[in-house]
Amino acid sequence: MGPPGAGKGTQASRLAAERGLAHIATGDMLRAAVAAGTELGRRAQSIMAAGDLVPDDLIVAMIRERLGEPDAASGFILDGFPRTQPQAFALESMLADQGRRIAAVLVFDIDPEVLIARLSGRRVCRADGHVYHLEHNPPRTAGVCDVDGSELYQRDDDQPDVIRTRYRKQWQDAAAPVLEHYRDAGLVYDLDAARPVAAVAAEVDRLIDDLSGEAA
Ligand code: AP5
Repeated sequence: MGPPGAGKGTQASRLAAERGLAHIATGDMLRAAVAAGTELGRRAQSIMAAGDLVPDDLIVAMIRERLGEPDAASGFILDGFPRTQPQAFALESMLADQGRRIAAVLVFDIDPEVLIARLSGRRVCRADGHVYHLEHNPPRTAGVCDVDGSELYQRDDDQPDVIRTRYRKQWQDAAAPVLEHYRDAGLVYDLDAARPVAAVAAEVDRLIDDLSGEAA
């Protein structure tokens, strides 16, 4: 969990690839639905562009289906979900049905001022959502994804006024009770997400190694 631009996707995609876990990112799934022109995508497009939350029933149905896919069977990283209390309760019930539980909630703490600069410089690949930053993580060739050669673009919701709306409505308002719920359950690990990517990665890895050790 963390505010928009805190670096959740950057760390989750790396970690998932390195550890053979499914990376389940609701924002990426919604953008894929928009690009494919599905009914979900049509309903989500203007909501996302305005920086608002997509309705809980749509998100929960999308996650329910995704958690049933084979690659999620041996573990997954949820990125951008749950973001509201109803989503958190729905997740707990889905996991309980499968005899599973949340191992940890990593919270990316960062000053809001840093986020505008991060998101204004973000570029994303059309084919598969690979994430770059013009200064902190530039592609080898400007405008082209290193991984699949597709075009890089700027997200509609990475404009300063929309970033402020996302921060306020999604992080300060909707996510606050979810975070409190996970703190009460003793699941939260706070990370200083303002540090460079490699420093954040090292701490994430340490935490996951500790958790794996505890589980063994
Ligand atoms: P989503 O795509 O999930 O957006 P978000 O949560 O706002 O998160 P971001 O993707 O903007 O940021 P991030 O933390 O992943 O940062 P990143 O690693 O890219 O959701 C989009 C929309 O979909 C929502 O607004 C909502 O409408 C809808 N939605 C999604 N889930 C929903 C849900 N559960 N319920 C309802 N609606 C939902 O990094 C950002 C930039 O910084 C990059 O350029 C990166 O290269 C750079 N960077 C990363 N780490 C560092 C670092 N340590 N130092 C310097 N630069 C860094």
